[in-house]
Amino acid sequence: MELKLQGKRALVTGASSGLGLHFAGVLAGAGAEVTLAARRLAKVEKAAEALTGAGHTAHAIELDVTDPASVSAAFDAAPAYDVVINNAGISGSGAALHMDVAEFERVIDTNLTGVFSVAQAAARGMSEAGGGAIVNIASILGLRVAGHVAAYTASKAAVIQLTKALALEWARHGVRVNALCPGYIETPINADFFDTDAGQALIRRIPQRRLGQLGDLDGPLLLLASDASSYMTGSVVAVDGGHLVSGL
Ligand code: NAI
Repeated sequence: MELKLQGKRALVTGASSGLGLHFAGVLAGAGAEVTLAARRLAKVEKAAEALTGAGHTAHAIELDVTDPASVSAAFDAAPAYDVVINNAGISGSGAALHMDVAEFERVIDTNLTGVFSVAQAAARGMSEAGGGAIVNIASILGLRVAGHVAAYTASKAAVIQLTKALALEWARHGVRVNALCPGYIETPINADFFDTDAGQALIRRIPQRRLGQLGDLDGPLLLLASDASSYMTGSVVAVDGGHLVSGL
């Protein structure tokens, strides 16, 4: 079974930067017609133009996953997607003792409620069209904890449980829901941290002794998005160089 997406329509949330932008390119490269969704329309329009210029089929739409009207508009305007990557997320770091409840709620709104709203809108279309695949981007911080990211770890743990609950309910509609849990992936935003002593110490705790690169996610993403995983739903796939199994 090939990890190909020819003839499939895919949507990626939070596609203006980082993993989401990369995922849009990976899906397009596998043959999907890709819609890049983000709050900043100009940024995703530029990215979609670049993909189109490279010979792919790509579109851009404005989407704020925390705004139910924006989510409805994004899905009502289009025929059903075959693949939806629930990638938009924020980190919201800070010591739990001093974190404002409003900041905690902002992280939950985006990372959990946003994932639910998008999944629900996607699944309504998919179930009418005969099925589809939803991939929720969680994190290894949904399975283990670290300091100063209490809201984030709670949101990602909830996304993992939500993934399983939706998989259970929607299997009968042909909608598969799986979670991808990246470990620490090197991006321009965190590169400075990983040059510090603390960053280097963290890397030494990863059994493979290296950070993940964006390309390390390509195979697992395509597996979960494509028919190659047609008997997988409710699965939680970690891509972390073994970080979750580091010794105590
Ligand atoms: P990023 O900050 O580069 O990308 C997040 C994207 O989500 C941005 O495009 C942002 O504009 C968008 N976004 C935020 N709030 C939104 C909203 N309300 N509506 C629509 N879009 C919104 O961060 P990164 O690293 O690319 O993260 C992407 C996903 O991967 C997140 O869910 C994150 O938790 C997850 N992740 C990232 C890891 C990493 O090492 N970078 C590791 C594990 C998980």
